Amino acid sequence: MIKRRRGKEKTNSLGNKKNQERTLLVGIRHPRESLLESKESLFELERLVRTAGGLVVAVTYQEVKKIHPATYIGQGKLEEISQLVTEYEIQTVIFDEELSAGQNRNLEEKLKCKVIDRTGLILDIFAQRAKTKEGKLQVELAQCMYIMPRLVGQWGHFSRLGGGIGTRGPGETQLEVDRRRLRERIHRLKEKLAHVEEYRDLQRHKREQVPVPTIAMVGYTNAGKSTLMNSLTEAGVMVEDKLFATLDPTVRRLRLPSGRQVLLSDTVGFIRKLPHQLVKAFQATFEEVRAADVLLHIVDMSSPTWQQQKEVVEKVLAELGLDSKPRLEVLNKVDLLGNGASNGGGIKISARDGTGVKHLLDQIEAKLREGRAKVYLKIPYHLSGCLDWLHQVAEIHWRNFKKDGIYLQVSLTPENANRLKNKHQIKIGAKHCFAPTDG
Ligand code: GTP
Repeated sequence: MIKRRRGKEKTNSLGNKKNQERTLLVGIRHPRESLLESKESLFELERLVRTAGGLVVAVTYQEVKKIHPATYIGQGKLEEISQLVTEYEIQTVIFDEELSAGQNRNLEEKLKCKVIDRTGLILDIFAQRAKTKEGKLQVELAQCMYIMPRLVGQWGHFSRLGGGIGTRGPGETQLEVDRRRLRERIHRLKEKLAHVEEYRDLQRHKREQVPVPTIAMVGYTNAGKSTLMNSLTEAGVMVEDKLFATLDPTVRRLRLPSGRQVLLSDTVGFIRKLPHQLVKAFQATFEEVRAADVLLHIVDMSSPTWQQQKEVVEKVLAELGLDSKPRLEVLNKVDLLGNGASNGGGIKISARDGTGVKHLLDQIEAKLREGRAKVYLKIPYHLSGCLDWLHQVAEIHWRNFKKDGIYLQVSLTPENANRLKNKHQIKIGAKHCFAPTDG
């Protein structure tokens, strides 16, 4: 199946489209995949190309029963693509699957143009979008790890094929170095990242000193995390209808209806076939998620494949060992659903028009309350300084000022109860010991 998106003439008449890289996409369907899944994956590839600044000129699609070891696809399809490349002056052919280094090279030789795979494309977008020092280091590390096995002959290709999608980013100055120097670079990047991570750990540790609960948003790319972050906290996080608008984690304060403060963090969006190098390189970013008390899994309900997207996120969370974290499922973009559409059992919201957002805040509050126990405390007056802290981390049901101290009934987590006991030597106990008596 071949779809020609835009002919050469039309593209040339589009003025500003003239300089965009002309790409041909190759969708692949494996027997285990449904038609919907593989089409959605290809549609997503198109959006990725647009995000990377490329122009999709033609799309072709192949059912692959058996992967051809040398070229991934068979001879017939290869010839068909080769003709399209000439006919439509294609500069780059993009495969919706990860190609081995050898397949990549063979395809470039046969098609006489640049060939990249989905992973290379995602890395390219990440490279363009990374803003913080940590983000840039992480992407460069992922790029180096991706390039390493493809090194033989790679530089020849890049200089011959003239840069563009898949060849840019913080790593591009390294494209001229040899394998030994690349290995050294990986080593140095890891060292630098270790320093940045130490700093981040320190920040997180400082935050934990004043243990304001943290809520981390996770979700498929474009699910609406940044929009929700903005509407909840007016954080001004970049929102774009492009994939991976957010790359670096943002943390903002949020006040819940009870007045309690929490920290809300936005993280990189997940995507199917997420490059393994990236999951590894972004480990530090995912530490924000690891340190969170509650995860908000934002799902784009308007996507025809929201269930698959949800599964992708759940799979990555499981890979990161985060699947047992307390979690709320947030079904976003309900404004785009027709009347009566009701899928799934999560909290339905529209981050855009604010529908359900108040209910979401109540649910976050309720979730934070889970795992807390009601306890009774007696705080001597000389330790009353810890009351401020207690207000932040616990729900106070009542308190009573008596001659020998302040008596309270509070709900708090076992960790904070231990903190009171061990750090402040405050007695925590059963009602009969601490309940206030008149006088
Ligand atoms: P990544 O940075 O890729 O992870 O994306 P994200 O999850 O942060 O998504 P973002 O908030 O950037 O939103 C993606 C697109 O969806 C933007 O065009 C938003 O305006 C749109 N969007 C977000 N929430 C809603 C919603 O509730 N309704 C509608 N109609 N559109 C929404």
